[in-house]
Amino acid sequence: MDKLIINGGTPLHGQIQASGAKNAVLPIMAATLLAEGIFHIHNVPDLRDVKTMAYLLRIIGAKVDYEHNTLTIDTSNCSFFEAPYELVKTMRASIYVLGPLLARFGEAKVSLPGGCAIGARPVDLHLKGLSKLGACVVLEKGYIQASANQMAGCTINLDVPSVGATGNLLMAAVLTTGETTISNAAREPDVVALAEFLVKMGARIEGIGTAVLKIKGAAKLNAVDFEIVPDRIEAGTFMIAAAITGGEVEITKCNPRHVDSLTAKLREAGVLVEEGKESITCKSTRQRPLPVNITTSEYPGFPTDLQAQWMALMCLAGGSSIITDTIFFDRFTHTAELRRLGAKIELNENTAFVGGVESLNGAPVMSTDLRASACLVLAGLAARGCTEVHRIYHLDRGYERIEAKLKKLGADISRQDGGL
Ligand code: EPZ
Repeated sequence: MDKLIINGGTPLHGQIQASGAKNAVLPIMAATLLAEGIFHIHNVPDLRDVKTMAYLLRIIGAKVDYEHNTLTIDTSNCSFFEAPYELVKTMRASIYVLGPLLARFGEAKVSLPGGCAIGARPVDLHLKGLSKLGACVVLEKGYIQASANQMAGCTINLDVPSVGATGNLLMAAVLTTGETTISNAAREPDVVALAEFLVKMGARIEGIGTAVLKIKGAAKLNAVDFEIVPDRIEAGTFMIAAAITGGEVEITKCNPRHVDSLTAKLREAGVLVEEGKESITCKSTRQRPLPVNITTSEYPGFPTDLQAQWMALMCLAGGSSIITDTIFFDRFTHTAELRRLGAKIELNENTAFVGGVESLNGAPVMSTDLRASACLVLAGLAARGCTEVHRIYHLDRGYERIEAKLKKLGADISRQDGGL
């Protein structure tokens, strides 16, 4: 398995361009199943998860080509309505085909996603909502067997503003007769992008970007072209890279509004953040960042997907900080690896108490999930000496050419084929 070799200590300087958002492109790829025709989707990042979703769409019968960050998807001949365990176990987002398959074909068989390094990750809200719309949902031998002869619009109240459940139910509702209301809906930019894609296809959705979505079912939707929004989590990761290495980095082709919560915290930590129309520049102004507490919450709160990266930064702060994750209580597997680099962190349930240290020292560390990998890369960039980040297949799921982008900023980083 591949690993990254990082010789830390170099302040990063320069400019990189954000790629398209992984968490927007995955549901949008699934949403193409709602219409028959040829879609061209632009600004699609070259990621493992995109390849996995493309593979799943091909299993269902779509033709999928990918070239120069554009996906061409032809859904004219879909005829197999199953997402197999072998595939779903590698990517939880496969669950996104459930809503579209039910809405367009009236049947779907999707493997239950297993747990992962950041917790159990149930799908009960997806299934409850689909049942409320009139689908018959049965769990059998690890699979969700769903069928729907005639779904009807209704009101769905989500217990938590789940990104996945909001997306799945939105995709089920757009072809469902009558009016559906989804309240306590997720407001993440990825959900907004999905809703905008569906509207461009001919769906009738009101309240986009708010916690109450009202959908009037359409008889038919159309294949369209679309451009994926910039990845706010990638942009945030590079903002923190500038801060942790004591450098100055401009991230272009991004939406500064989407990282407001991180910008506020970086400014509190003493980092200079300048916002352009479609760019953001982060400049370190202190030897060590000031300690700043965070508690993750749903958008527009501080994103759980930047919690691990923030922890890396706080490991080097000039004081102690507290990091609480209210979205995923188990999302702290990066803590043990950071301690191997010399970090001082105590855990209590879903709260980490981080004691800032003067410096971290390079060592071999192991990735456990996508954002933990990013955290360890950031820590390695700041640590003295050499850090090896192992199992970086996690990283390749969600960051396009990350070592090339970091090299462009002056990082001493290289990928080594791990052989086995
Ligand atoms: C999406 O996951 C993202 N993944 C995650 O990003 C992100 O961390 C998460 O949203 C939160 O923002 C994609 O978009 C592909 P949720 P999702 O449903 O949809 C509970 C990354 O690093 N819940 O919003 O799975 C759940 O347990 C990934 O890019 C239920 O209880 O997240 C969690 O506590 C990691 N029942 C909370 O809701 C359900 O049916 C939020 O989960 C569904 C969710």
